[in-house]
Amino acid sequence: MTTRFLRAAAIAGTAALVALGVAGVERAHAACGVDTPRADMTYEDAQDVWECLKDDLYAGYNKGPKRWIPAAFVKDYRDWRMASTLPADPGVHSGRYLLTYVNDAGYDAYTEFKDDGTAAIPAGAVIAKESFSISDAGEVSKGPLFFMQKVEAGTSPKTDDWYYMMVNPNGAPAAVNVYTACNECHMAFAHQGGLGYPVPEVRVGQ
Ligand code: HEC
Repeated sequence: MTTRFLRAAAIAGTAALVALGVAGVERAHAACGVDTPRADMTYEDAQDVWECLKDDLYAGYNKGPKRWIPAAFVKDYRDWRMASTLPADPGVHSGRYLLTYVNDAGYDAYTEFKDDGTAAIPAGAVIAKESFSISDAGEVSKGPLFFMQKVEAGTSPKTDDWYYMMVNPNGAPAAVNVYTACNECHMAFAHQGGLGYPVPEVRVGQ
């Protein structure tokens, strides 16, 4: 009885460390590292890394107050449907591996992946993209969680009515100038409704 109790306490202590500190985070990363040089990694290899990292990634994003970012987005996005089938690294978003989730309001319109200027994403749609990186040496690190929210027409004409948000891996909302840090690049995809879309090989239904 006593031994079992102590063991449970030790596990709880480790969990607290993981939740709190760098030590726990480092350990998690090392545990998810790979031997394959990044250049040889397939998207399936990246999926294995994500499987290892995913709980820690989600727990990190959900730490602490979200301030101007709706906390429900951060809590709920894993329950939305995925628009990508495997993590892929298209070279944007700092070369990270990306996974895309879309809420019910946006899923059907988003997953048409329209690229002819007719993409019409309804207000209320929210798209989440989580990220992680794998270095050339196979070290894994967590990346930010990104959101785009489509708001009512006319709310934000400068951004085509998109709101942009970013949560750091430690849960802190990132105070960036979303106009220059996000919108300028996304507006280069005006023919896709401001959306970059996952690379074709990992789009759902393709
Ligand atoms: C250099 C260009 C660039 C910048 C800067 C950029 N993005 Fe993106 N973003 C893309 C591309 C390209 C994709 C599609 C990537 C993929 O999934 O393969 C994308 C995808 C996304 C998605 C998924 C929806 C979609 O477009 O398909 C979200 C959400 C997102 N970005 C949010 C952000 C936020 C928030 C910022 C600023 C903090 C930002 N992005 C900055 C190019 C950019």
